[in-house]
Amino acid sequence: EKVTVSVIKADVGSVVGHSRPHPSMMQAAKKILTEKQKQGVLEDFYVTRVGDDINLFMTHYKGENNKEIHGAAWDCFQEATKIAKSMKLYAAGQDILTDAFSGNVKGAGPGSAEMTFEERGSEPMLFFMADKTEPSAYSPILSRIYLDPFTTTGLVVDARAKKGFDVEIHDVLDHKKVVMSSPEETLNILALLGDTSRYAIKRVSSRAGIGPACVVSTDKLNMTAGKYVGKDDPVCICRSQSGLPSVGEYTQPFLMTSWIAGGWMRGSHYGTFYPCSPEDSDPTYFDGPPRICCLGFQLNNGKLQGLEPLNTKGGDHIPVDFFGNPTFDSARANAIKTSKFLRTQGPFTPSILPAEEMEYTSRPEVIKELKSRFESVDEKPVKSVTKKKKDVE
Ligand code: F6R
Ligand code: MG
Repeated sequence: EKVTVSVIKADVGSVVGHSRPHPSMMQAAKKILTEKQKQGVLEDFYVTRVGDDINLFMTHYKGENNKEIHGAAWDCFQEATKIAKSMKLYAAGQDILTDAFSGNVKGAGPGSAEMTFEERGSEPMLFFMADKTEPSAYSPILSRIYLDPFTTTGLVVDARAKKGFDVEIHDVLDHKKVVMSSPEETLNILALLGDTSRYAIKRVSSRAGIGPACVVSTDKLNMTAGKYVGKDDPVCICRSQSGLPSVGEYTQPFLMTSWIAGGWMRGSHYGTFYPCSPEDSDPTYFDGPPRICCLGFQLNNGKLQGLEPLNTKGGDHIPVDFFGNPTFDSARANAIKTSKFLRTQGPFTPSILPAEEMEYTSRPEVIKELKSRFESVDEKPVKSVTKKKKDVE
């Protein structure tokens, strides 16, 4: 029987601006999911957060897009919203975009990533959670991990990893997808992914028959709502080892360099990813910078196994917190240094996002106001200054 791992997340309000959910909101989610586990809906679960987003890790045998599983998450966010409202917390209920739950959180506000697979003899899993950024922020990092042999030595020396990976790329604006294969199509894959406004990796699968390797939540909240209500703050679930990238091959890119991610303040700036522990994930500088956590669990017959005793129920797990390690202090220092540098450029691209990606912008109104004041420039338009390629050849 195939196990499904689902992560469903939402920002339904936080204490002091867009900082962190109140502990009682997390407690309420834990209580609801404990009940669902008792009822046998869930095999296991863990409730955590990154910045202002509550993340629900759930394991079960009900498959993806299951009404009971999505419904359980929906109930958690409803209850957490009630608490946030009663405390007059900021942005209470922010990611709840519909009144009526239709059986699936997709299009309703929360983000979700799910994968279904045959559990292997040992199944080490990583859960990345990012705040104040968008799904395509994972693209350069996952490209390094799955496509670059100078980053992932396993692509060269592990016979199964060497078979390559199928990469499902979503066009988040046109709601289309395409599956491309590495290593043959690596350069074309990168040609698409380079446009982070439109393309994002949704899923990567083994070409050696191991099944899914990773899945990213690509809900593109701004498009879901029809108007821009926020970035997606995406999660990424990864399976690792034995023919897939190892744990260290997944975490290495975060130490190699700082990764620029769109989002940050008012969803309108580029900042660099700050890898950290969930406890350290409060936005501290200019509402950010974009933060990313990495928690690890082993699967044990559909149950999550961390550092807690065997058969621990009620979500009382202790994951391995990879970015909580002092090794990542230098990455954090570099993230702040580079983010500060980006800030020195003020409200100009490439410090702020391109026009169509801005969550906040006053430009259309400014242009409207100036409509009568704009006049034509009477200089003659310059004729083709750049030579056509044909002329040069
Ligand atoms: C970005 C974010 C914050 C807010 C900013 C303004 O994703 O959550 O940076 O955009 O604090 O918030 P509002 O519009 O609620 O005043
Ligand atoms: Mg958030």
